[in-house]
Amino acid sequence: MNILVTGGAGFIGSHLCERLTNMGHHLTVIDNLSNGRKSFLATLPPSKIQFIEGSVMDRPLLQKTLKDCDLVFHLAATLGVKNTVEDPLKIIHGNIDGTRNVLELAYEKNVKVVFASTSEVYGKNPILPFTEDSDRILGSAQTSRWCYATAKSLDEHMCFAYGKKGLPISIGRYFNAYGPRQTSSQYGGVIPKFIVAALKNEPITVFGDGNQTRCFTFISDMIDGTVACMYPKANNEVFNIGTTEQITINSLAQMIKDITNSNSDIIHIPYERAYGLGYEDTPDRLPDISKAASTLGFNPKVSLENGLKQTISYYQTVLGISDSE
Ligand SMILES: NC(=O)c1ccc[n+]([C@@H]2O[C@H](COP(=O)([O-])OP(=O)(O)OC[C@H]3O[C@@H](n4cnc5c(N)ncnc54)[C@H](O)[C@@H]3O)[C@@H](O)[C@H]2O)c1
Repeated sequence: MNILVTGGAGFIGSHLCERLTNMGHHLTVIDNLSNGRKSFLATLPPSKIQFIEGSVMDRPLLQKTLKDCDLVFHLAATLGVKNTVEDPLKIIHGNIDGTRNVLELAYEKNVKVVFASTSEVYGKNPILPFTEDSDRILGSAQTSRWCYATAKSLDEHMCFAYGKKGLPISIGRYFNAYGPRQTSSQYGGVIPKFIVAALKNEPITVFGDGNQTRCFTFISDMIDGTVACMYPKANNEVFNIGTTEQITINSLAQMIKDITNSNSDIIHIPYERAYGLGYEDTPDRLPDISKAASTLGFNPKVSLENGLKQTISYYQTVLGISDSE
């Protein structure tokens, strides 16, 4: 198949490209490199992948590229709690305008779109686990913290609306991906931040009391779920893609400290100090993955401990640290 991957030079996108080329597909990647890196694709066979530095905001480029494609994985997006709080317009445009272009142009050509959504859409719904039809409970529109979840929810609405018009779509709602190549700089991935601090024996900073829980999903499992969404059995459906291994942020910090033999202190700072007054976090996130399991055969395999070991080893190589001193 000829497949377009938007955001293919990013963390999840580059792992997806690796898997799809291994499966024998031919890829075109459009990425504006705002957060991705071309080097993430460097090991892929040049005959199987064409990289275009460009934006999904560029309709003529998208139109031209889609002409020869059988399928689109749409991952290009602007992420990050920091961005959400500091520059909400960047999040709104970065998540709505490009998705609208992708869907409109894919509809013209009747090319299936697999869309990368997020567990953030469930907001602060306290009823766990989240099933795909759980309510979205978001805070006030006066709080910019909710604009990423709102934009991704609108994207999902657009996907379903095109689905209703006959375009095959499917949506994966990702629960906290982690693994090699995730960057901590722009959007504050907690695992890379903790690992880098631990390896440098610097304080590991936990926001809030650290009792909030998450289900961190190793990248290979995330890719299993994403790839499964390309098949017709996933059409016009949304799936939770994540593990059900729940951990508090305090325990995560301790686990990373233990694996790296770090001397780092684990310190806590209030959310307000990190993100300003009025910031709300979602206390707990736990997916019900029975729909993905029964429809897609999705079955996450990598335990948090194993995934962390692989991720830590990647950062040791990147940072040139062989062991924590
Ligand atoms: N990482 C997670 O835990 C997570 C969780 C839920 C959902 N997601 C979704 O998964 C997708 C991939 O996320 P990621 O973690 O790999 O982030 P990432 O930032 O590493 O990847 C996004 C990529 O999109 C590119 N990009 C941004 N705007 C673009 C534009 N206008 N045109 C072309 N390229 C553009 C960036 O350069 C980057 O390479 C996103 O849609 C994100 O919302 C990720």
